[in-house]
Amino acid sequence: MTLVAERTGPAAARPEDPAAREPARGRRIPGAGPRPPLLRIAGVTLEYRTPERVVRATHRVDLDVFAADRFVLLGPSGCGKSTLLKAVAGFLAPVEGEITLDGVPVREPGPDRIVVFQEFDQLPPWKTVAQNVAFPLRASGTLGRREAEARARHYIDKVGLSRFADSYPHQLSGGMKQRVAIARALAMQPTMLLMDEPFAALDALTRRKMQEELLALWDEVRFTLLFVTHSIEEALVVGNRVALLSPHPGRVRGEFNSHDFDLASVGGDAFQAAVQRLHRRLFETESAAPGPAS
Ligand SMILES: Nc1ncnc2c1ncn2[C@@H]1O[C@H](COP(=O)(O)OP(=O)(O)OP(=O)(O)O)[C@@H](O)[C@H]1O
Ligand SMILES: [Mg+2]
Repeated sequence: MTLVAERTGPAAARPEDPAAREPARGRRIPGAGPRPPLLRIAGVTLEYRTPERVVRATHRVDLDVFAADRFVLLGPSGCGKSTLLKAVAGFLAPVEGEITLDGVPVREPGPDRIVVFQEFDQLPPWKTVAQNVAFPLRASGTLGRREAEARARHYIDKVGLSRFADSYPHQLSGGMKQRVAIARALAMQPTMLLMDEPFAALDALTRRKMQEELLALWDEVRFTLLFVTHSIEEALVVGNRVALLSPHPGRVRGEFNSHDFDLASVGGDAFQAAVQRLHRRLFETESAAPGPAS
């Protein structure tokens, strides 16, 4: 098992992973060394300003995400996970530092970064599943009607909902609605898929099934994922890299490679040891110096 607390270089993706050899969208000059990160979060401080006060949500966060990474932000409530995700999505500008995607500063939301939220009510209830999935493709001008419909059906099939393509959201379970939200996001073929605790409101069995499906989809599509959770187990299962954040304000405590784990590892000795290690790192006192995980 590999579990290191160092800032990693290029993604710790599986060696056989073809995506690991892919440069981040045409930026690599042959022989120019390791590929650059797809997403770079450099010295990013994020704040909320209300008339009464300023809340510093993150303080000088540095993170690099590489193409086809499944990068997880893990930390307790209030450590700025959602705020960081919002900033990557372009909804919030840093007061310090910079976020770049493929070398270009992020300044506003765009179809290259799609967010899947925790809430089940992300889908307009008056549209069918197929219409929900096709809508952003049409509204963004990405595809014409027939192409959008075809692509929507393709991704609805990928998340196992073909039989429900013409159903309305109120006819679906919470897990099914989350599948529709994932299909809608993937149909846009975004450069990055941003997920904010997408499975947190599901029962344990459905959550596990959704994690399995997400990993199967990643195996097939090889999207780049930025995934927020406060569950250590989920971080280890879903991610190939995990950044640990501490709260008030959110700072990076350490980074861990978790690519050796998947759902089959859950309950095994190595997995439990990793959970314990991350647990200790999350709850050790602020004064403890960051160092290699032990
Ligand atoms: N709209 C807002 N206005 C003011 N402060 C905010 C706002 N949203 C979040 N905050 C504050 O910013 C900090 C980070 O919040 P954030 O929602 O990013 O945390 P989180 O890690 O996602 O927590 P959780 O796990 O509970 O979702 C918290 O101190 C929170 O109170
Ligand atoms: Mg949050």
